[in-house]
Order: sequence, then structure tokens, then C-alpha cells
Amino acid sequence: MKNILITGGAGFIGSHVVRLFVNKYPDYLIYNLDALTYAGNLENLNDIENAPNYTFLKADINDANSIQDLFQKYRFDSVIHLAAESHVDRSITDPLSFLKTNIFGTVNLLNAAKDLWKENFSSHLFYHISTDEVYGTLGETGLFTEKTGYDPNSPYSASKASSDHFVRAYGETYGLPYIISNCSNNYGPNQFPEKLIPLFINNIIEKKPLPVYGDGNYTRDWLYVIDHATAIDLTFHKGKIKETFNIGGFNEWKNIDLVKLLCGLMDEKLNRPKGSSEQLITFVKDRPGHDLRYAIDASKINTQLGWKPSLTFEEGLSKTIDWYLNNTSWLKNVTSGAYQEYYKNQYKK
Ligand code: NAD
Ligand code: TYD
Repeated sequence: MKNILITGGAGFIGSHVVRLFVNKYPDYLIYNLDALTYAGNLENLNDIENAPNYTFLKADINDANSIQDLFQKYRFDSVIHLAAESHVDRSITDPLSFLKTNIFGTVNLLNAAKDLWKENFSSHLFYHISTDEVYGTLGETGLFTEKTGYDPNSPYSASKASSDHFVRAYGETYGLPYIISNCSNNYGPNQFPEKLIPLFINNIIEKKPLPVYGDGNYTRDWLYVIDHATAIDLTFHKGKIKETFNIGGFNEWKNIDLVKLLCGLMDEKLNRPKGSSEQLITFVKDRPGHDLRYAIDASKINTQLGWKPSLTFEEGLSKTIDWYLNNTSWLKNVTSGAYQEYYKNQYKK
């Protein structure tokens, strides 16, 4: 039996990683540790919550004592660390909470792992999930490789960059076995409707304006979330210790082109006149420090581990829209206070 701690498993990417591991590895005990912030939602895991190899632990990674206690109690063999404050716009209005969770929280986990594993590091792994945003911005050409220097521009990316450095430093200083992967923008089911794609799907459903920042000529490299989860699975099992892997979709889109594609698909799926969703596009004030372009060179994970995305963007976007249209109650719950009630009822002891 392997005891695997997944942090942030009630969030968007974490819930897909938890589901994959619980279903694919019945011999592993999967512990999902999450503070259930506004972004964490146990409804994301309804389908596996009673699985015999799954345990939910409500805890805050900022609370060093409870993190130490949980490591001593459950004796985790490995960690896949996703818990974070993850939204750039929130980091601009509240940088300190990003510093706390993304940096202090990560160091609390590193300390607990080091203390538990220090007698024999060999069969353990601290796998840290990071972002391509640590590399800063690209111009019109070029790609981020694993050798690109860190140059973060937002409080979010600065906090993630710092956490990556701490993970690497614990590897060098104490010998803690680690892997880091840096992924591009994810999209798919269960993403909180504050990020571009789910926000715009929700606004189109509700016929609300689609606020495009600046001129919309910003470029992101989009990856379907389940393809990210598959990459995490492969990297966890086959990645070499002390290595970094870039994960991306080979799929660059200017925001305005993406939004137009989304509008067209939504018109079809909602049986609305062609062009009606596009009329909701509204150009608004730009995000401060807005990175122009992200694009990943994912050739290392492709050649070393044999990973590549399984879906085209049109397929992934279509599946994503279908999921939101079939889960309007999920959308309503996360955009109202109802989720808090769900948690209280589910975990009243
Ligand atoms: P998310 O915001 O959807 O989920 C984050 C989860 O972490 C939530 O369940 C939340 O409750 C939990 N959490 C937050 N603070 C916590 C704390 N103090 N203690 C315990 N749990 C806490 O984020 P996501 O989009 O799923 O991202 C997951 C990870 O992947 C993050 O580390 C993020 O930086 C990274 N990442 C995200 C993307 C993306 O496009 N979303 C791309 C690359 C990397
Ligand atoms: P977002 O989904 O917040 O991800 P990130 O900032 O991590 O890339 O934003 C994706 C792109 O969409 C980014 O260039 C900002 C832009 N954007 C808008 O134009 N309007 C919006 O309302 C949001 C949330 C994002």
C-alpha cells in the first residue's frame, strides 16, 4: 500500500487528479487535503467520495502544527501538491494571501515531509505542481523550455516562483526528493467561474457582458484538464527525481479568437441565432502587468515520458461547454452561498 497525499484535491485540477488516482490505483490510499476555500468544492468528487481508498482531510496548509500532525498520523509516502491561491486577478487585489498559502503553506508541507522522511528519503517523492507563469511573458515568438529563467510578473506568479525555489532548495539542502512540473492554462469541467473560459460560458448562459481585458490580443496555451491529470500521473510514476517538466497543449490562442470560437459553439448548443453571443463581447480596462503571451515547449515530457494531449481544442471546448450546460446547479451552487450548506450537511459530526 502507498499512502499518497494530494493537496488542493477539492479544487479544479486537484479533483481530476484525485479521481484519476482513486480509480486507477485501488492499491493506493489517497488522502485529499484541502482547506475548502471559495475555490474548493467537495461536490467535485461526489462520484468517488465513498471509495474505500479515499479519505478527505479538511486542513489548512498554513497551519504548520496540524500539517505536522497529519504527516505523523497518516505517514504519507509521497505528496502531490496542488493547493494554492490560483487566480491572477485576486493576487493583484490581495497579494498577501498568495504569499501565505503559496509560499508559507508550501514550506510547511516541505518541513513536514522532511521531518517524516529524513531517516530514509529513497522511496519518497514531493511532487510540486506549478505554472508556466513563473517564466514571465514571451514576445510574439519563442517558447518556454525547462531552461527558461524565472521572471514572474504578477503576485500570483511571484508566489509560485518562490514556492518552486523552496522545493528545489529543500532538494539541494536536505536531499528531499522532488519533481516540479510547470503547466500552461488548463480548462475543462469543474473550473471555478472566475477564470476566462468558465466565466464566459456562465455569462453567455446568463446573457451577461463578456469582459475582454485590453484589446484581447493576449495569447495563452490551453490544455484540457484531464490531459494535465494524465501528465501528472506519468510524471509522478516515471519522472526523474530533481527534474522539471513543462506541460502544455501545443495550442496557442489569442483571447479574442478563443472568445469568438466559444461564442460560436455556445450559439449552436443553446440554439441561439448565429452571432448573438459575440454581441456580448465588451472590451474593458486591461489587467495591470498583463503577460502578453505564454507558450510551452512540451517536448521533454513528450520524448522522455511519451505524454501528449489527447484532445483537440475544439473537442475539449465542446466537452467543457456540455459539462457546464449539464451542470447548471453546480454553477449556481458555486456562485451562491449554497455550497457552504452542502459542506455543513455532508460533514456534520
Ligand atoms: P483552484 O483554485 O481551483 O484550487 C485550489 C485548491 O486549493 C482549492 O480546492 C482550495 O480550497 C485549496 N486551497 C487553497 N488554499 C489552501 C490552503 N491554505 N490549505 C489547503 N488547501 C487550500 O486551483 P487549480 O486551478 O486547480 O490549480 C491547482 C494547482 O495547479 C495550483 O497550484 C496552480 O498554481 C497550478 N496550476 C494551475 C493552472 C490553471 O490553469 N488552473 C495551470 C498551471 C498550474
Ligand atoms: P485567466 O483565465 O485568469 O488565466 P491567467 O491569467 O492565469 O492566464 O485569464 C486568461 C486570459 O484571459 C488572460 O490573458 C486574461 C484574460 N481575461 C479576460 O480578458 N477577461 C476576464 O474576465 C478574465 C478572467 C481573463
